[in-house]
Amino acid sequence: MPGSVRLGSHNRRLASEAMRLLSVTEAVVTRVDLADYPLPIYDGDFEIESGVPQNAQLLAQRIAAQDALLIVSPEYNASIPPLLKNAIDWASRVRKVNERPVQPFKGLVVGLASASPGRFGGQRGLEAVRVVLRALGADVMTQQCLLPLAGEGFDENGRLTDDVARSSLESLCDKLLDTARSLSRHG
Ligand SMILES: Cc1cc2nc3c(=O)[nH]c(=O)nc-3n(C[C@H](O)[C@H](O)[C@H](O)COP(=O)(O)O)c2cc1C
Repeated sequence: MPGSVRLGSHNRRLASEAMRLLSVTEAVVTRVDLADYPLPIYDGDFEIESGVPQNAQLLAQRIAAQDALLIVSPEYNASIPPLLKNAIDWASRVRKVNERPVQPFKGLVVGLASASPGRFGGQRGLEAVRVVLRALGADVMTQQCLLPLAGEGFDENGRLTDDVARSSLESLCDKLLDTARSLSRHG
């Protein structure tokens, strides 16, 4: 799940590379694109008047169905971008799916990756994402993948150009699958 919907997003590209790696495994992999779940900025009055929007329910349902989630997110002002935070906030307000109680993030194995045109690869942003998801009961892996200088990180086909970055992403994907297998919340 990329934390950016921007056309030409570095993080979407990195997420596509992860998809490529994961789709040659036995895992069933789905891409969650936040562009498919447009949501208003969270507002408690809106929620009281109109309830949780259907897109938040659909997003929560999609996340709740997964054993693991790879979030590939940009860093905004050393923190989590509002698009991602808002989506998580709304999804955390969903209490039931098909009449069944649900906690979309509880026990979810989460891997984190970030691409940034800067030198630090979005590390501080991921720290913020980690705090939010841990508060919601997710099992956020310590291992993560950072892609600094992302403007030069991909070739014209969107493939990672740097061997170190590719093996870091491969290792993260492997670990995510291993952890999801051992901690599967769907039995
Ligand atoms: C409001 C704002 C704040 C940003 N703050 C940071 C930052 O703290 N660190 C960083 O590395 N990049 C920062 N950037 C640059 C983003 O990393 C860059 O726009 C990146 O391309 C966004 O990710 P995307 O390509 O996946 O859309 C910021 C960009 C915006 C719009």
